[in-house]
Amino acid sequence: MATLHTKVGIIGAGPAGLLLSHLLHLEGIESIVIEVQTRQYVEERNRAGVLEQGTVDLLNASGVGERLRREGLIHHGIELRFNRQGHRIDMHELTGGRAITVYAQHEVVKDLVHARLRDGGQILFEASQVSIHDFEGDSPRIRFERHGEPSEVACDFIGGCDGFHGICRPSIPAGALRFYEKTYPFGWLGITAEAVPASHELIYSNHERGFALLSMRSPIITRAYLQCRPDEDLAAWPDERIWEELDRRFETCGGFRLNRGPVDQKGVTPMRSFVTEPMQYGRLFLAGDAAHIVPPTGAKGLNLAVADVRILARALSAWYGTGSEQLLKQYSDICLRRVWRAQHFSWWMTSMLHRFEGGDGFDHRRQLAELDQVTTLRAAAVTLAENYTGLPFDLPGETL
Ligand code: FAD
Ligand code: DHB
Repeated sequence: MATLHTKVGIIGAGPAGLLLSHLLHLEGIESIVIEVQTRQYVEERNRAGVLEQGTVDLLNASGVGERLRREGLIHHGIELRFNRQGHRIDMHELTGGRAITVYAQHEVVKDLVHARLRDGGQILFEASQVSIHDFEGDSPRIRFERHGEPSEVACDFIGGCDGFHGICRPSIPAGALRFYEKTYPFGWLGITAEAVPASHELIYSNHERGFALLSMRSPIITRAYLQCRPDEDLAAWPDERIWEELDRRFETCGGFRLNRGPVDQKGVTPMRSFVTEPMQYGRLFLAGDAAHIVPPTGAKGLNLAVADVRILARALSAWYGTGSEQLLKQYSDICLRRVWRAQHFSWWMTSMLHRFEGGDGFDHRRQLAELDQVTTLRAAAVTLAENYTGLPFDLPGETL
């Protein structure tokens, strides 16, 4: 069996794994990334679209922001729509100058893959039978097959960046971790279409028929989501039905209509909140969706993954630089504080905007009161804007 040696073995070439590898490289620390999918698959998988200010700043500062600066769409506000009326939340003004950038996750992935390969980094795509071993001790190992050949990576640490369905979290002995979970009785049906977005800013719409979100991927590509059943059958949703339902859920007194165009992609995502505590076991460190999932309403998942690996790269850099274990030991606590803040925000946005079945309409009335407050009381709007544009990387009381 071929054995490769490196300092940090990273499982997963999503945003978490690739950025970790890139940040470690900038610190002079070698890593190998192992990924089950093909390069094309990870570079085309359409998921998140909203980058917080801090995420953009980190990508820029680490030298992978060139295309993001050119093609990313900077948004200073969002619209909350309810009772057939739009209400703008001016995030820029409310936060003293912060903004979000609409730039697709798979574009971030493309930029990171490009940077890693340019800098001589190793990403082993199309690995199968990936398993991790001996991470309780000082010499962890990763085993996998590639092109039918068994291989092994011997390393000092493992970065478990393999997403929610990966193998890292389940490889930790039962009883060492605690899980917190909440599933929602709905999902999102998402489409990407060749149509000019009907609004320059994102619209989050609360409607009696269910939540809808209007977003974009470029000035000529619309991205939109509809609340649906978690197991919704896509076959029951021909394009025409999707456009009609979107028009209904975005309707305003002024007669708002979406621009229609060919639908390129369609998918259903169930929604859940999930947290693993701690995010570390021995020399295995979980980061991103491997450790936690948020419902997408707050646009936090990718941003949390970035925040995790920023801390992990620093902690590993301190260990290799000075031998100090302090930051590695604090890794989980530092990350979990932000994770729980994002869980709260994502849960709050989700419960304010989605339709909950059953009951006598109490929940809907309660949501309208909450939306009324957020769109008229400055303190409430500031809270939304601060959380949406992203909390500072160093939370109050922390300086790394
Ligand atoms: P992933 O992106 O899941 O990457 C994990 C990688 O590991 C994958 O490439 C996978 O193939 C690989 N892998 C899995 N198993 C193995 C294995 N055994 N061995 C090797 N490799 C393996 N977040 C936001 O911040 N903003 C948004 O606007 C937003 N919108 C979203 C909309 C939708 C519809 C969805 C589904 C998600 C959204 N998210 C959003 C969440 C965001 O996409 C995720 O949080 C993000 O992908 C997490 O990155 P990650 O690197 O941790 O995991
Ligand atoms: C997008 C996804 C989100 O979850 C969100 O809250 C906003 C935008 C998007 O894919 O564009």
